Amino acid sequence: FSPKLLAGQKVLVTAGPTFEALDPIRGITNHSSGKMGFAIARAAREAGAEVTLVAGPVHLLTPRGVTRVDVLSAQDMLEATTRAAQSASIFVATAAVADWRPATQSNQKIKKDGSGRTPVLNFTENPDILLSVAKSERAQSKKLFCVGFAAESENLAEHAKAKRERKGIPLLVGNIGPLTFGQDDNALLLVDANGVRELPRAPKLTLARELMTEIAARLPDWRV
Ligand code: C5P
Repeated sequence: FSPKLLAGQKVLVTAGPTFEALDPIRGITNHSSGKMGFAIARAAREAGAEVTLVAGPVHLLTPRGVTRVDVLSAQDMLEATTRAAQSASIFVATAAVADWRPATQSNQKIKKDGSGRTPVLNFTENPDILLSVAKSERAQSKKLFCVGFAAESENLAEHAKAKRERKGIPLLVGNIGPLTFGQDDNALLLVDANGVRELPRAPKLTLARELMTEIAARLPDWRV
């Protein structure tokens, strides 16, 4: 693992969950710890890249030398990511973005009114950040290599292949079950146009370094 592996590259990573507010006090989120994304940001920096990490609400220290942008909602994450993607050369989307957000947000705390009635929640679909970046002119003209992640409960390889094609990206990484929220290790399935390859269970930082090697190896062929 060379400190020059990604020299000259600008790596953009999204990590963690998003938080979709209902009112100033409450909101909807998920159990993503952000550990895989933070490990990837650290590994990319160690490999000599300039790294921007767009992070949802997580309890993790910023890896040394990494520029961190904190966001809450999917819409905020889309905005920060779209901006950083304009100069990035590699984008790794690990964030567990909420698929939906409450259709309306109350400016004031929603109160119990004593009647026993419960609020009804309506939802709006959130933007697909990876899809939006992957469709951008920069990615389409092969100046930006996009990598997606997938967490599936079954048929990982099939879902991962389908997801790679749907998102129109060169590389998709499947989390090999069981779901590893908050764990320090993981196992990954790499899916590209040539097929699948497994990175066996290991600490997330080890896998992140291996993933940087795999990405670096794919760049020359992909760019031509
Ligand atoms: O479609 P699905 O959510 O399963 O795809 C997962 C991949 O897409 C992950 O890389 C995730 O970070 C990204 N994604 C995103 N914005 C969304 C949903 C998923 O960037 N709204």
